[in-house]
Amino acid sequence: MATLPTSRPGLAAEADGPHLILVGLPGAGKSGVGKYLARRLGRRFMDFDVEIARREGKSVAAIFAEHGEAHFRELEHALTAELQSVAGMVLAPGGGWVTRPGTVALLRPPARLAYLEVTPATAVRRMGAGVANRPLLQGSDPVGELDRLLRARQRAYEDADFVVNVERLTLQQVGTRLLTALR
Ligand code: S3P
Repeated sequence: MATLPTSRPGLAAEADGPHLILVGLPGAGKSGVGKYLARRLGRRFMDFDVEIARREGKSVAAIFAEHGEAHFRELEHALTAELQSVAGMVLAPGGGWVTRPGTVALLRPPARLAYLEVTPATAVRRMGAGVANRPLLQGSDPVGELDRLLRARQRAYEDADFVVNVERLTLQQVGTRLLTALR
């Protein structure tokens, strides 16, 4: 027997709807919030850094060290292009994904971007020992370096469809706000 939907779910609940992409600095919580949202929405999740490292058989830090940042950006671009043929995922690309011209445009429109806004000091505090896994933050002043990256990327981040200041929120609170915004 055919069943008819009794209520029209929001776009966020549609597995064939547009991708939801979380952007923001390292330490903003993209992966944690992304996993939470994917679970709540029943969508698939992809952490780009994890997927790229899995495919290349080496860490992101090793890819940067052996082949350079430009090569890593090409890997991000190629992975993004693959995601044009699927829909409805929650995606957490690395913080610099917005920097390579043409990459965002592969998916958006129709994908929607959410910017998780955080100050460099809080991001470094949240990353803790995880700073060691970020090749762009290996100098003596990771907060200063993130500040420089933020200035260069701010316009691209703020071009998102939703902006959530995550400074004083838990990842569940960030996720809940995004779920509300997506309805
Ligand atoms: C980068 C962020 C990292 C990772 C790489 C480069 C960046 O991802 O892709 O180290 O340029 O901001 P996270 O934002 O998940 O830390």
